[in-house]
Amino acid sequence: MKIFPSSTTQAIPETGEVPVHVAIIMDGNGRWAKQRLMPRTAGHMRGVQAVRRTVEACGQRGVRYLTLFAFSSENWRRPQQEVSLLMRLFVQALEKEVDKLVEQGVRLRVVGDLGAFDEHLRALIHDAERRTEHLSTLTLTIAANYGGRWDILQATRRLLAARPELAERPDALDESALAPYLSMAYAPEPDLFIRTGGEQRISNFMIWQLAYTELYFTRTYWPDFNAAALDEAFEWYRGRERRFGRTSEQLRVPQ
Ligand code: FPP
Repeated sequence: MKIFPSSTTQAIPETGEVPVHVAIIMDGNGRWAKQRLMPRTAGHMRGVQAVRRTVEACGQRGVRYLTLFAFSSENWRRPQQEVSLLMRLFVQALEKEVDKLVEQGVRLRVVGDLGAFDEHLRALIHDAERRTEHLSTLTLTIAANYGGRWDILQATRRLLAARPELAERPDALDESALAPYLSMAYAPEPDLFIRTGGEQRISNFMIWQLAYTELYFTRTYWPDFNAAALDEAFEWYRGRERRFGRTSEQLRVPQ
């Protein structure tokens, strides 16, 4: 199968049994902890184990891109203690897990407004990205201080800075001009979106790229997510008819 970033609104992508790109909102850490009379932060700590399991399971199943929403632009609104714990977990993961990623052939990329993070964390991110940049079995993207609207705005700003003449000729602005400036321009659009924890919303995650993504919601809390839960999502995905705007009849006869 050819792997290259393309636009689902401009061309119909090749699809297979296993999604090429899986994007996940890892929700339910707080409720998982509350059910056990533990602090919310305990849920996040268990959440890191689920991240490890999911990366491994996706690699084994032939997924090429896995994108995880670790911290949204809106998560700064949480209690200071919880924000600090999430930052610490991120630092620890970068310090401890990169060797394992290298062993598994996983390339790590971090997208989002990283300017808001402290210098130490930014240096760790840069180092981990550099150490894994030659790997390609699976590209793991962590979205941190990320928001879909932020992404579209930063892409627009960078496009206009690079091509100021577009401001005078707005008709010349099209999807293919903007798309290369989106922070995940290196990846095809997600085939499958998974949100754990029972809520059914997108929460400002990859709002441009989810245009034709299949949306899967499960009540499972993120700390309980595992290979079996991933397989359930994949089985559901295999049953979807991906029409990309066409009719069912068109899909049955070869075009
Ligand atoms: C949502 O659960 C989860 C988060 C905001 C953070 C996700 C972070 C991790 C899984 C750990 C760190 C990640 C990496 C990549 C090292 P919630 O707190 O909103 O749960 P709730 O809806 O039950 O309150």
